[in-house]
Amino acid sequence: MEKREQLYEGKAKKVFATEDPNYVIVSYKDDATAFDGTKKGTIVGKGAINNRMTNLLMRKLEAQGVPTHYTEELNDRETLVKKVRIVPLEVIVRNISAGHFASRYGVSEGIVFESPVLEFSYKNDELHDPLLNDDHAIALGLATRDEIAQIRTYALRVNELLKDTLAAVGVTLVDFKLEFGKTEAGELVLADEISPDTCRFWDSKTGEKLDKDRFRRDLGNVEEAYEEMSRRMWGS
Ligand code: TMP
Ligand code: ASP
Repeated sequence: MEKREQLYEGKAKKVFATEDPNYVIVSYKDDATAFDGTKKGTIVGKGAINNRMTNLLMRKLEAQGVPTHYTEELNDRETLVKKVRIVPLEVIVRNISAGHFASRYGVSEGIVFESPVLEFSYKNDELHDPLLNDDHAIALGLATRDEIAQIRTYALRVNELLKDTLAAVGVTLVDFKLEFGKTEAGELVLADEISPDTCRFWDSKTGEKLDKDRFRRDLGNVEEAYEEMSRRMWGS
């Protein structure tokens, strides 16, 4: 499908129109931001790795009953996806304490939860993505009760499938963030990306961080961590 005008530029991706109003092309950038865009940088090669990893995982999820926006990988950085209206919720699933869970509740990182913790935040950088519950989201008109129930079911299924896929390559899935969207036809689908930008990956043996926390926390070897995740996923 032909790439037409740019519709939107986000922090890590650009979105382009196609000749079909029901499809758009996402183009992954090497730009990295953190802390609501206040910290900026470049992670060389990130765009291609995130594009390919997201697509690999979305194809797997789709095959196992989770509908996604994924349609076709066009090249290293670009993918054709269904056009959706993004539900403005960051859907976070946590298996182990880390990041904002640890800081918000004053606990250490690395506590393994008995069952996954699912949380929502309102996707709004100006408000710093405030945490909210189902009732808040419904009151604000961000999603309906049925959509939230469906999102919860899909997010927990994604967690089970991703945990197993990653465990097989020696990676512990600590937590991750998903975004969902609604197609023109009204179908709720998994959208956005699943990558080291949006997940915490710890090496199962050494605990080494293999994700964007290396950039957020200035830990060094940022590119190397993305490349290591790419090697694990494709075994090369
Ligand atoms: P948090 O501990 O900072 O709330 O992050 C939880 C997960 O969500 C972690 O895997 C990183 C991911 N995440 C994003 O994808 N985008 C964001 O803006 C934030 C804050 C976190
Ligand atoms: N990408 C997000 C931002 O710039 C934050 C993050 O992933 O930590 O706000």
